[in-house]
Amino acid sequence: MSQATEHGEKSPVETKEVFERVARTYDRLNHLFSFNADTRWRRRLVAASETAAEGGSVLDVCTGTGDVAIAFARSNPAARITALDFSENMLANARAKIEAGKLSERITLIKGDALSLPFQDESFDVVSISFGLRTLSDRRRAVSELARVAKRGGRLLIMEFAPPPATPFGLLYRFYLHRLMPFMGDLLSGYRVSYSYLDTSIAAFPVASEVPVLMADAGLRKVETERLTGGIAYLFRASKP
Ligand SMILES: C[S@@+](CC[C@H](N)C(=O)[O-])C[C@H]1O[C@@H](n2cnc3c(N)ncnc32)[C@H](O)[C@@H]1O
Repeated sequence: MSQATEHGEKSPVETKEVFERVARTYDRLNHLFSFNADTRWRRRLVAASETAAEGGSVLDVCTGTGDVAIAFARSNPAARITALDFSENMLANARAKIEAGKLSERITLIKGDALSLPFQDESFDVVSISFGLRTLSDRRRAVSELARVAKRGGRLLIMEFAPPPATPFGLLYRFYLHRLMPFMGDLLSGYRVSYSYLDTSIAAFPVASEVPVLMADAGLRKVETERLTGGIAYLFRASKP
């Protein structure tokens, strides 16, 4: 089952298993563990796209339970939104929320692989991925796929957790991330090791130094970095020339 990955972490098959398992409790635990900051961060990502009320097409990759896609739909009533993930259970949750929000006409859900996007070059005005990049086995390829499907002049947004910063707050966060969250997550989701994987994947990805390089190497320009909540998470924004 295991295949080698670029970072010696989980294979795509193992990653998929993790998300199929945690899908049921994903939203609740996300809000709980981030003290609801995740909702604020996703709103920030949507605002950073600067598409509000402009229409256009948006692709949200690794959409999970669809919160970013839903936030785009709410902030921009004229936009056409496509949201992609490879986990059936995550997509089922997204579908239920999209139907409950009467947004089925506006958001198209697609089951697919972030590393081989089923879209033609230059298809979308905005392409986003939130908290998905670190879970991918080949991040370089992922960013180049995101850049490929963005239109010229389009925007690319990447939001991701960062390893604990070297500050007193970071020390506290380190304890929270490595001890409390995996313990509580595995307990509340009912699956041992799933949440331990999430914290390991956060610690293993130095986003602040790597993501701007990956974006620039993918041919993107005007790369901007925004530190969120004391450096727990980062938002990266770039344009396709
Ligand atoms: C941590 S969740 C993030 C979900 C959502 N974007 C959010 O902000 O909460 C990561 C998501 O990436 C998806 N994923 C991981 N690898 C993938 C791949 N190769 N192709 C498509 N989706 C993938 C998982 O199924 C999961 O739903």
